[in-house]
Amino acid sequence: MNFFTVSSFIICFSIGAGESCTKITENLHYSCMGRNLSYIPPSIPSSIQTLDFSFNVLKHLKKTVFPVLSFLRVLDLSRCQIKHIENDTFYNVKNLTALILTGNPITYFGPGCLNFLRNLQRLVLVDVGLSSLQLQINNLTKLQELRVGTNNIQSMSLPPFMSSFKDFSLLDLHGNNISVIKTHHTAVFREIGRNMTLILSRNPLSYIEPGAFKDVYLRRLDIRSTFASSAAQKAGLKALYGLNVKRLMFGKFRGEFKFQFSDAHVLDGLCFIHFQEIYYYIIERPSEPVSIFRCMINATNVIVKSGVIHEMEYVFFHEIKELYLLQDQLLTLPGKQLSHLHTLEKLVIAHNIEPLRAGTSFTDMPKLQYLDLSSNRMTLTRCCTTLLSGTPQLRYLNLSQNGEIGLELGGFDGLASLEILDFHHTRVLDLGYYSSLSNLKYLRYLDVSYSSITFVNIFSFYGPNNLKILKMAGNKFKGDVASYLFSNLTLLEHLDMSYCHVVELHPSSFKNLQRLRLLNLRGNNLMTIDFLALPDLKRLTSLYVDKNSITSIPLHVLQKLPTNLSEIDLSSNPIDCSCSQTDFILWIIQNQKVLKQPENIFCKTLSPSSDFRATDFDIDSCVHKKRLTIVLSVCFVTVVVLLSFLVYRFQFYLQYCCILLRGYRSPGQQECSYDAFVIFSSYDEVWVMNELMENLENGVPPIQLCLHMRDFQAGKSITSNIIDEGIMGSRKIIVVVSQHFIDSAWCRFEFELAQSRFMLERNANIIIIILEDVEERKTKKVFGLHKHLKKNTYLKWSRDPLSNMRFWIRLRKAIISTNQ
Ligand SMILES: *[C@@H]1O[C@H](CO)[C@@H](O)[C@H](O)[C@H]1NC(C)=O
Ligand SMILES: *[C@@H]1O[C@H](CO)[C@@H](O)[C@H](O)[C@H]1NC(C)=O
Ligand SMILES: *[C@@H]1O[C@H](CO)[C@@H](O)[C@H](O)[C@H]1NC(C)=O
Ligand SMILES: *[C@@H]1O[C@H](CO)[C@@H](O)[C@H](O)[C@H]1NC(C)=O
Ligand SMILES: *[C@@H]1O[C@H](CO)[C@@H](O)[C@H](O)[C@H]1NC(C)=O
Ligand SMILES: *[C@@H]1O[C@H](CO)[C@@H](O)[C@H](O)[C@H]1NC(C)=O
Ligand SMILES: *[C@@H]1O[C@H](CO)[C@@H](O)[C@H](O)[C@H]1NC(C)=O
Ligand SMILES: *[C@@H]1O[C@H](CO)[C@@H](O)[C@H](O)[C@H]1NC(C)=O
Ligand SMILES: *[C@@H]1O[C@H](CO)[C@@H](O)[C@H](O)[C@H]1NC(C)=O
Repeated sequence: MNFFTVSSFIICFSIGAGESCTKITENLHYSCMGRNLSYIPPSIPSSIQTLDFSFNVLKHLKKTVFPVLSFLRVLDLSRCQIKHIENDTFYNVKNLTALILTGNPITYFGPGCLNFLRNLQRLVLVDVGLSSLQLQINNLTKLQELRVGTNNIQSMSLPPFMSSFKDFSLLDLHGNNISVIKTHHTAVFREIGRNMTLILSRNPLSYIEPGAFKDVYLRRLDIRSTFASSAAQKAGLKALYGLNVKRLMFGKFRGEFKFQFSDAHVLDGLCFIHFQEIYYYIIERPSEPVSIFRCMINATNVIVKSGVIHEMEYVFFHEIKELYLLQDQLLTLPGKQLSHLHTLEKLVIAHNIEPLRAGTSFTDMPKLQYLDLSSNRMTLTRCCTTLLSGTPQLRYLNLSQNGEIGLELGGFDGLASLEILDFHHTRVLDLGYYSSLSNLKYLRYLDVSYSSITFVNIFSFYGPNNLKILKMAGNKFKGDVASYLFSNLTLLEHLDMSYCHVVELHPSSFKNLQRLRLLNLRGNNLMTIDFLALPDLKRLTSLYVDKNSITSIPLHVLQKLPTNLSEIDLSSNPIDCSCSQTDFILWIIQNQKVLKQPENIFCKTLSPSSDFRATDFDIDSCVHKKRLTIVLSVCFVTVVVLLSFLVYRFQFYLQYCCILLRGYRSPGQQECSYDAFVIFSSYDEVWVMNELMENLENGVPPIQLCLHMRDFQAGKSITSNIIDEGIMGSRKIIVVVSQHFIDSAWCRFEFELAQSRFMLERNANIIIIILEDVEERKTKKVFGLHKHLKKNTYLKWSRDPLSNMRFWIRLRKAIISTNQ
């Protein structure tokens, strides 16, 4: 049982290891690099064509190591600690076209072990401890490339059978121990055809037998850092006479220390080698003047790199087409020295070590098409007609990464063929003020990025109407010049206006740019990108508006976005993530495939430290909020309507409350002008006038009654009168209860007001007179009356003279008495 679990664990583990290889193309290409594997994982499909098995542990190769993989073409076994390769190792992978064994300490090659690989084209045996080129590869007739660099090989002679390898074209012997080359070492090369590349760099070559390479035809010979000394180089170059080579590369590798030329004739041997192209990485420093180019006059391409050349000499190149002077130490621009080169088509003077002085101009170069003067920290005051007066064919001009260039008036006269013009990272004066480019009607590419230009003139781009690519990052625009600048560039496909401090772009800025495909507005201060709704931008596929101040894009713009827009960068903008922007945020969430770095689209937050992604915004919460808002609004409206109704219904009470509140605020100040206010029904008026008024006002002391038909002020509303004159203006209230009183709404109202006035005081201030008997049931109709009658004594009117007398005495007493 225990054993079973252990073994199943081991099986699982080994399958896991197989799966640990990375599938690069399903069934075809796998990488098991650096997995510490000691076998080919069984999970590798038999259909595999490319297997990278580098950096594993294979040590001993034999037939069983590789399963039958008949489709395998490329096998990389770099640095697998392989020591021993048996005879039949590659039997199961016969169809390989490329085998890489770099960096294995191979001590034993089974004789003929490689001969199974009849289809092999590329064999890489770099750094495998090889000491000879006499490999048993007789059957590899399709071999094209043999790379045996960094070994211990002492002789470059190939096995004779290789002269029949028709496709053999590259032998890389760099970093071996070849010190001597004799004529018989090159015998196979002489027979092998004219398409061989031979790399002999970094060998300690001290002697070449003169004529060893006579009548050898090579495509490329690389002898950089191949000679043990300066003297060996001089002799070696001489001994190469009679060699025909298309491209010769010699000199040193970058980063190697310089040694001095002791001899002015060190390069003389070059005169007897037939080459078309020469690449010379100098590094050596001449102790006396050396004519570097003297033996290069028949070359078509000359590249001189890191030359200690201060002044360019006059060289009468016969058929030169391309000349490169890179990382040299020129002091002035050698315009005059090169101006006679009528065949020159391409001239590159770039990355000069010293700041290059503007020397003489290029006057007579009728075939010059390509001129690269970039990265020379050069200052030109008058460009470019003066500098380039005889170059009518010039199509490419690169003046980027220089100091400062002053454009002269009509700066490109005579340069009408220019198609590509690059000024980036060079200060360009005056371009923003004049239509300097007006005659460049073939210009396709213009780069003025970071050229310290302020575009002032809306006609700055007047003329180059064929412009397809315009890069103008890191410049400035005066006012709204940017809105007019492009109106004639109808063929523009690529516009880079990043980091230009643009705050606003008028929708019509890109009006005529119907071919625009890429628009880069990164790093400006734009708040809106409404111009996107413009129908002219329908071809746009890429838009970069990251690092701006955009808070939202309105729905009508989102709906009109160009249909082919497949790449938008909106990141690093202060996106407004609020419920009013749900359309926009929903659009962000739904278009994450189109958006570049959607994970960097953050919401604007108050604290800069808290990052909140727009894609994490919860739109559902907005739906809830919306619902809540609707419910709340409905409730609010209902309450308001209800309140208004109540206010309307009880306006008198409210008014009265106000007065009461006012009264409470200043108690004591209140002066009563009447002793009593009489509440009665107008049907009882006769009684009130004849009896009540008669008895009270004419008695001693006279009691001043407030009677509505007599004492209410004209012109004032009844309610105000009731409140101000009656209830507030009288010390006591007399209520005359009768059948009519109960039926009258006004009376009930007055009584209710009266009660509320004295709510906090004693009810003794309300004196009830029952004028006629009323059913108890009916008294309940009047709010508080029934209760009042039950709790308090009241006066009852009677016609009987005795009780009548008592009635008046009690009434008078009740009125005159004070509460306290
Ligand atoms: C590689 O595998 C061997 C056994 O095959 C093991 O001893 C060694 O520790 C492994 N090395 C690493 C780095 O995993
Ligand atoms: C390897 O094969 C060669 C012939 O191809 C044979 O002569 C030699 O004996 C074999 N060596 C071994 C160890 O099998
Ligand atoms: C190499 O080719 C020869 C002749 O064609 C053949 O006899 C021999 O078996 C081949 N060797 C291998 C290892 O295939
Ligand atoms: C290179 O070859 C020479 C003989 O030509 C030998 O003396 C020297 O040891 C070899 N160098 C190495 C590193 O094997
Ligand atoms: C010469 O060799 C190169 C590879 O080094 C190859 O691409 C080219 O086709 C070959 N040309 C001829 C004419 O064989
Ligand atoms: C250049 O070529 C001419 C003939 O085409 C030849 O006479 C002359 O020696 C060559 N010069 C050099 C330096 O190779
Ligand atoms: C101009 O030269 C610079 C620097 O050498 C290079 O980076 C740039 O690509 C060149 N411009 C063009 C349009 O080739
Ligand atoms: C655009 O071109 C027309 C004629 O082709 C010209 O009249 C107009 O001034 C140009 N406008 C700009 C801004 O270059
Ligand atoms: C959009 O792209 C398709 C396919 O690439 C193309 O056929 C179509 O013309 C393009 N539409 C526009 C408006 O450019």
